[in-house]
Order: sequence, then C-alpha cells, then structure tokens
Amino acid sequence: MITLLKNIKLLGQTEIEPVAFRAGKEMQTMHNIENAYLLIKDDKFYAFGPMSKWNPSLLEGLDGPCTEIDATGRMVFPSFCDSHTHLVYAGSREIEYIDKIRGLSYEEIAKRGGGILNSSARLHAASEEELFDSAWQRLEEITATGTGAVEIKSGYGLNTEDELKMLRVIRKLKEKSPLTIKANFLGAHAVPLEYKGKQSEYVDLIINEMIPLVAAEELADYIDVFCDKGFFTPEETERMLMQGIKYGLRPKIHANELDYSGGIQVGVKYNALSVDHLEYTGDEEIAALLGSETMPTLLPGAAFFLGMVWAPVRKMIDAGLPVAMASDYNPGSCPSGNMQLVLSMGCIKYKMLPEEAFNAVTLNSAYALGVSDTHGTIAKGKVANFYITKPISTLEFMPYAFGNNKIERVFLNGAEN
Ligand code: NIG
Ligand code: FE
Repeated sequence: MITLLKNIKLLGQTEIEPVAFRAGKEMQTMHNIENAYLLIKDDKFYAFGPMSKWNPSLLEGLDGPCTEIDATGRMVFPSFCDSHTHLVYAGSREIEYIDKIRGLSYEEIAKRGGGILNSSARLHAASEEELFDSAWQRLEEITATGTGAVEIKSGYGLNTEDELKMLRVIRKLKEKSPLTIKANFLGAHAVPLEYKGKQSEYVDLIINEMIPLVAAEELADYIDVFCDKGFFTPEETERMLMQGIKYGLRPKIHANELDYSGGIQVGVKYNALSVDHLEYTGDEEIAALLGSETMPTLLPGAAFFLGMVWAPVRKMIDAGLPVAMASDYNPGSCPSGNMQLVLSMGCIKYKMLPEEAFNAVTLNSAYALGVSDTHGTIAKGKVANFYITKPISTLEFMPYAFGNNKIERVFLNGAEN
C-alpha cells in the first residue's frame, strides 16, 4: 500500500536524524518543510521533501497501487502522543463538578468518598464489556482529534480483581485498536474505603499480590503511584516502585500536583520515564530533573478544570529541561482527551512558543510514552500516524484557534481512519 501526499502547504515536525526528545532552547526547534510531499509505504513513513525535489522515480520499485492525495492549502503533522490518560472508566462525574463550582476542593471531595472512590464503585459494578465499549468510544473520539498513541492507566479498581479487570480491558483495546497503546498499572491511585486508616496494608497488598499478578499476565508496561499530599508518601511510593521495577515495570508517576510532595525526587531516583502534573515544581525539583532520563510532563487540562496553580513551565524550559504535555483524560479532573486543546493551553497558560508546545505534544510526549523511536515525528521508518489539517493559514493557527477542530483527515498505520 503506497500513499502519496503532494502540495502540502507545510509538513511539520520532520526529522532526518531522529532524537529521543528536545530540551531547553532546543524545544524551539521544529523541522518543517513548506510545499512538501510525503510518501508512505504500508504502515511507515518512507520519504518526504520539498515538491521541488519530487520525482516520480521515487516510486520505482514500490509495488502496488498508489493513492494520491492533493493537500493544497493544508498542513500535515505527526499525530499527537497522549502519554497520560485514565480513559477506561464507568460513568461520568458531573455532579462533583458542580460541588467544585460551589467551592469544594479536589481533596475535600476525595475525603467525602467522592472522586476516585466514586469512580471505583462504579467500575466495580461495570462488566468488562461495558468498560470496553465506553473506552472504545473515547478512543474513537481522541483519534478524530488527532491522537495516534496513548497511555491508559488502571487505578479505578483498587482491589486485585478489579485492577486486573481494568488492565484486561486495556489489553483488549490494545489488540483491537489501530492506536498505539501502553498500559500503566496504577493500583496506588487512592486508598480504598476498606483500608481507611490502614494505608500501609493496602500498599502491602499492591506489593505482594497485585504487582506479581499483573506481571504474570503481562498486563502492564509501566507502574504508577499517586505520590502526593493526602494520597501516597514518597516512602510508600519507593517501596512500590522497587517492587514494580523488580517485575519489569518502569515507573511513570503522578507527582507534585497538590504540594511539594517529594514525588519528583522519588521518580527521578527510580529512573521514572516520566513524572506528571508538576504544579508544585521549585528549584530543588528542577535540579533533580536536570540531567535525568525522566520526562517532566504537564497536564494543563486538569489544571484548567480544577482551577489549579499553573506549573512554572517557562522556568523549567529556560533552566534546560524538556517538557511533555498530555491530556490526563479522566472523569474527575479532565473529562477531555483533546490534544489540540492541550496544545493551545500550552501556549496560552504556560507561555510556550508554538514550536515548544508542538514538541511537548509529539516528540517529548512520545518519549514519555516510551515510543519516541517509532512515533512523535515524521521520519523515515517511523509509524505513519499523522493528520491532514483543514485549509489553515499558518502553523501558529493550530494553537491559536483554541477549541476548534482544525483536523480534516486522520491516518493511523498508513491507513485512513
Ligand atoms: O491525574 N491525580 C490523580 N488522578 C487523576 C484524577 C483521577 C480522578 O479524579 O478520577 C488525575 O488528575
Ligand atoms: Fe492522572
């Protein structure tokens, strides 16, 4: 299967010599080609360049029919990589959202048995099939808005059986969906009601029972812990991460959303692939992250929805750090998986330049997902996940026109979706 796109107004985020991520000043780098062609062979990018260099001889030796697309006036970008979601869940939580409007904080709602525990009770009552069907709809929704690779967490089970149930649903989504999917085991999302006052026993359950079972069925790629004020301590996090690593699960954790919790430092210490949220990031946290292999990941949708303080992203990038952005799609703190909106919020709220924000939602978030060798840019041999925009004026229009869908056609694994 050969697909040829011609007359592309701008082919964004191409790479000749792929890098794992971009940090600091480099985040302003984006290799874009004006008036370009793009050639796709089967499920991979095969060749690209300016139209002035297009030559039909490039098709020689490529078997099969060639579908030609005239992309005049349109831009092409690699699909978004959404490295942090909780998109398997049962039921929405708009009633709590009204409580929030009335002034209750995230922690107050959680303390009243709302929040994550509310979703946990609903998930318990839902069948695998129901969970699969509703998550499938969400996957279709994020595909249409430009996402091509996504991480999905467990964490609404909070007991062995239901955590495994969630992870089996994610495995089925992986098998059936054209999206690239990674699974993250988040047994330590909250302390379930039956362990109230016995948090360390719940941590033991995760360590002694859940992690070995998750690993035995090969249900997860990563391990997560909500390491924050009112949830799990750095010491508890450390114990769980050590066990996860022993069973082959690299950490990718929630940290510093509610306080200077020590979560970032624990994540770096255990070589987490990413530490996510990061509203409370100070000089010590920045120092810990510099030179590490851990990707600082911002979730502006959750900060927006909950009315949080904004992470000091300008300071982080200016200090030389890379940053990624993801949606956090979940029923409690971000009921949206729209990465076009995340791109806009990066510019509007974090004061990122458009190129920095693009790197944060493509290449750097691919790194935070563990797939930057195959996704996140348009490079020869990478998976052909990309979208064609509607006719638009400039690259800057993408983050600028917030809330509007700028995407006309979506391709996953080289095939139109
Ligand atoms: O990433 N911070 C912790 N967990 C989720 C919220 C999940 C929920 O409220 O259901 C988050 O925001
Ligand atoms: Fe989250």
